[in-house]
Formats: sequence, C-alpha cells, structure tokens
Amino acid sequence: MFFLAPFCVLETWKGPRPSLCLPGAPRLVGRNNPRDDLAQLPFLTMCIKESLRLHPPVTVVSRRCTQDILLPDGRVIPKGVICLISIFGTHHNPSVWPDPEVYDPFRFDPENIKKRSPLAFIPFLAGPRNCIGRTFAMTEMKVVLALTLLRFRILPDDAEPEPRRKPELILRAEGGLWLRVEPLSAGPQ
Ligand code: HEM
Repeated sequence: MFFLAPFCVLETWKGPRPSLCLPGAPRLVGRNNPRDDLAQLPFLTMCIKESLRLHPPVTVVSRRCTQDILLPDGRVIPKGVICLISIFGTHHNPSVWPDPEVYDPFRFDPENIKKRSPLAFIPFLAGPRNCIGRTFAMTEMKVVLALTLLRFRILPDDAEPEPRRKPELILRAEGGLWLRVEPLSAGPQ
C-alpha cells in the first residue's frame, strides 16, 4: 500500500489530470455510508488497477503442480514440479498489453476488460490461494488516494531522478519515491 499509492499518484499525475480520477471523491467526505461512495470512483479504480499492472507489488510466486500440465505447444510440465509464475511478466506481455510500459488506465475500462482473459491481470494471483486481503487492499487504496488527492496537489520531486523499480520481497522503488505535496487552498481539509 505505502509503495503502490505513491506510484499511483505519480503515474496519475504524469498521465491524466488527477481531478479526472475523482468525480465521486467529495462524496467520501462527511457521508454516512462510504462503502456506497467507494463504488462510485470508477476512474480512480482504473488508475489503481493500471498501477498494479505496471508495478505489481508481488512480482513472482511459486506453485507446485498437483497434476501434469499440458502446454499449448504440446510440452508437459510433470506433476510435482515447482513452477515460478512471473506476475510482472504476465502484466508486461506485449501480445496482451500493447506498449506495456505505458500507463493507460483505460486498459481497465469495463469494455476493454471484457476483451482479455481474467488471468491477464493477476496482482493478487488467482485460484484457491489468491490474496485474502485483496478487497481490503483495494478499498484502502481507494480511500487513501481519494482523500489525499482531494486535499493535496501532488507533484514529482524534480530534484530526484526518475524512479527505478527495485524488486525485493515486494517491488520497491530504488532510493524511495519522492513527491512534492502542496495543500489545495479550496476543498475540504
Ligand atoms: C496491494 C496489496 C496486495 C497485493 C498486491 C497482494 C498480493 C498477494 C499475492 C500475489 C498473494 C499470493 C502469494 C503466494 O501465494 O505466493 C497474496 C497472498 C496473501 N495475501 Fe495479499 N496482497 C496485498 C495486500 C494484502 C493485505 C492488505 C492483506 C491482509 C490484510 C493480505 C493478506 C494475504 C494473505 C493472508 C495471503 C496468503 C493467502 C493464502 O495463501 O491462502 N494481502 N497476496
């Protein structure tokens, strides 16, 4: 979360204007049922998903095959073999994601999602042992980002070099991600 949110803010700033992300953000403030309001942040959700595609916090996972797996080219992965699955590679496959290094939240427009396999985007993995915290994580990111963008203007720190990915146990940014945060004069504080 603390990694992804700055990446998301940064990419959103570089791409579409932050205000475009937040047509429903004011509704998160001072309302009784924030859960309903969260569902009304469709573009922010698209921005978060595109950040998760471009910079998946978990880049690789392993699984032991419980049965022989027949690949499309006829080769077989035998039962018992441990496979490494690259989430980063899956999210940067150019035959599924044209210009994979380009940040484009419209890849997650509902019409475009329908055109892809659900397994093309797996930041929380898939199957019976997928991430148990995925709904919590998505909700937390939406709330933190919406309330932050509502109150602050966020800009990259020009004194810092362009962020570089640093895969550790989770994906991080080399030297950290540095942003400039300026309070917005108008709007709720
Ligand atoms: C952006 C945030 C998150 C991402 C990208 C993420 C991603 C993942 C992935 C890829 C796995 C599968 C790992 C594997 O099997 O090797 C996983 C498992 C898991 N995650 Fe998350 N996660 C996130 C946030 C959270 C949060 C907030 C919680 C808890 C509140 C959580 C709890 C878990 C647990 C308990 C598992 C193990 C599930 C199992 O093995 O049955 N995760 N997560």
